[in-house]
Amino acid sequence: MTNEKRSSFTGKLGFVLAAAGSAVGLGNIWRFPYLAAKYGGGIFLLVYIILAVTLGFALMTAEIAIGRKTGLSAIGAFKELNKKYSFVGWLAAVIPMIILPYYSVIGGWVTKYLFAFLTGNGTMTAGDEYFGGFISQTAEPALWFFVFIGITAVIVLFGVEKGVEKVSKIMMPILVVLSVGIAVYSVCLPGAMDGVRYYILPDFSKFSATTVLAAMGQLFYSMSLAMGIMITYGSYMKKDVNLESSVGQIEIFDTGIAFLAGLMIIPAVFVFSGGTPEALGKGPSLMFVTLPKVFETMWGGHFVGILFFLLVLFAALTSSISLMETVVSIVCDKCKIGRKLSCLIVFAGSVVLGLISIFGYSIWSHITIIGLQFLDFFDFISNSVLMPVVAFLTCVFVGYVIKPQSLIDEVELSSKFKRKKLFVFVIKYMAPICIVLILVSSVLDAFGIFKI
Ligand code: PHE
Repeated sequence: MTNEKRSSFTGKLGFVLAAAGSAVGLGNIWRFPYLAAKYGGGIFLLVYIILAVTLGFALMTAEIAIGRKTGLSAIGAFKELNKKYSFVGWLAAVIPMIILPYYSVIGGWVTKYLFAFLTGNGTMTAGDEYFGGFISQTAEPALWFFVFIGITAVIVLFGVEKGVEKVSKIMMPILVVLSVGIAVYSVCLPGAMDGVRYYILPDFSKFSATTVLAAMGQLFYSMSLAMGIMITYGSYMKKDVNLESSVGQIEIFDTGIAFLAGLMIIPAVFVFSGGTPEALGKGPSLMFVTLPKVFETMWGGHFVGILFFLLVLFAALTSSISLMETVVSIVCDKCKIGRKLSCLIVFAGSVVLGLISIFGYSIWSHITIIGLQFLDFFDFISNSVLMPVVAFLTCVFVGYVIKPQSLIDEVELSSKFKRKKLFVFVIKYMAPICIVLILVSSVLDAFGIFKI
């Protein structure tokens, strides 16, 4: 009896940790704070949380249930449930192929910062021009990108998932403790309260459709939704593991770390650069520019910096591994080739796309696509276009083709489905309508046809 109980608990813990390992990554620590800073602080946070408990909850439940029901990953799962919809699985599979390369470029930046702190050059990184100077070079960012994607490829090649899982169990709690510690420190810096207010109190005049779009794109990205990853994870889930409460726990973990990252960075922006729109709108560079300044002022900041970038690197690696693993397994299955060869192909393809992102900040910085640099363009195409499209199609598929009841039955195999009504409402009505409205306005906005 005790054995049975214990094994089912371990099953759930293993599942939640694996899914949280994929979900918690650069999206939480690097992307969330800069989006929150840029899109109005408190209002972004509020919209994000509302979307997380409605859209995020329903979509994650649907994806995990599809996976567990079919026991297959995205491409196979859609095909098995309805042949006509197998293209959705394919579309979902393209997204990690676009994300992996640029994700690894940023992973390379983190590796470089860790190296700088390790070699005693942490203070240098606190300089205003340091980050811009670094990414506008070609050779150095490329070198660190190779290091990061190389480590990812080696781990995927050797398939040491078990090792990664074990390390996750130690590293993830440390990440939480450290995040709380740094956030408390940031909040206590003199002058930080303005930043805390900006981050926590919603200012409704800053609300716009782009806020919702940015929050939605971030939600999909951060929870690894709309790209088949949660379907694959669901396919590994035991039928007796409580699906609904697992989703809740993954959401709390993911949103909690993102919230703390914002609390580490946004008040510090107010302290060091003032709460000007320029400082807040710094975008992707925010984490790399602001946090080193925090560490510089902190007692023992050098050591905290090492630990922090080590943990960010680790969170990024667990995510990039899940991205590469997904792509490699698709290439293996569809091209009928071995794991080693498919790993090599994915590695080579990612290197090409990653280098394009790197050149976009240096020798090709004069080239932009719809006003965006390559890395931002890849980010836009995957997060603001493809993911909403896949999420929309998934909702239509579940809501009107296989019908929500088929997934409700799957959830109820392991427990009562408490938020059943919410699930049906979101999947059938709220999500499809929101996604279409937002998608159309964002694309028009990106092409400058219609300014929101
Ligand atoms: N969710 C991860 C993050 O927040 C990124 C990721 C996206 C990982 C897609 C896997 C798949 O950083």
